[in-house]
Amino acid sequence: MKETDTDAKKPRPFLKWAGGKRQLLRELLQYRPKKWGCYHEPFVGGGAVFFDLRPERAVLCDSNKELIDCYIAVRDQVDKVIHALKKHHHDKEYYYQIREQNPDKLNPATRAARMIYLNKTGFNGLYRVNSKNFFNVPFGRYVNPTICDESNLRACSAALQHIDILCSPFENVLKRARAGDFVYFDPPYVPLSFTSSFTSYTEGKFSMEDQTLLRDVAVKLKNRGVFVLLSNSSAPAVMELYSKGFELIPVSATRLVNSKAKGRGKITELLIR
Ligand SMILES: C[S@@+](CC[C@H](N)C(=O)[O-])C[C@H]1O[C@@H](n2cnc3c(N)ncnc32)[C@H](O)[C@@H]1O
Repeated sequence: MKETDTDAKKPRPFLKWAGGKRQLLRELLQYRPKKWGCYHEPFVGGGAVFFDLRPERAVLCDSNKELIDCYIAVRDQVDKVIHALKKHHHDKEYYYQIREQNPDKLNPATRAARMIYLNKTGFNGLYRVNSKNFFNVPFGRYVNPTICDESNLRACSAALQHIDILCSPFENVLKRARAGDFVYFDPPYVPLSFTSSFTSYTEGKFSMEDQTLLRDVAVKLKNRGVFVLLSNSSAPAVMELYSKGFELIPVSATRLVNSKAKGRGKITELLIR
């Protein structure tokens, strides 16, 4: 298929993110409403669904402040972010020097560039912090990673203009979403088994109580006339949580970011509405 000008400028997530939804997009988008008011994504992560939809009105949230500050810098000062990112290079010793920096002491553009650099060159594009909230992912095994994809960063920045971006817990969506709006929730998944657990996206864990609160928030939104779509694993606990008043749609996904190689491959996940 011939690429048109518009296709060429279509943004893709500017960060790799655990649980990224790019490969599930086609199935996921089948279940979106035909029309909606404002789009809300309370667990935005890499934002694959947002960048594909490119809605005019949207509120993007995540509890990861470093991630949200990075989005805000890409939205508001993409030239400075690109300038700072171009100064970085792929080298193990240099990676650890940048990793050592305290992000709180950097200006917003330099800080966002650091986040993008570590994401593109660190192990598997993981985001992981220690108990003191310091990024602790080791150097990755890439040969020649693209550190600064300038045209994609500009396309992302264009898509983010006039979009509200907030560091906020997911339940605050209840303060904002109105009848006719569309909310897509992509939370940290309930682990299929104890050993496949990977929920340390931020300093806090996403517990079963959080999963129950999320279900209750989804019920409240649906009762308000908001279109709700969620994704989660096919763990029995998820089926149980959403057994009443929700439709469960099994979809097949390839898990790419996983700490154990044997955890890669096709598995069944759930879309819930
Ligand atoms: C599965 S990822 C989202 C992936 C995203 N859909 C993508 O395509 O990249 C889950 C996100 O939820 C965020 N998160 C974890 N706990 C949260 C909470 N209580 N409130 C809001 N966001 C939270 C994490 O920081 C992470 O970015």
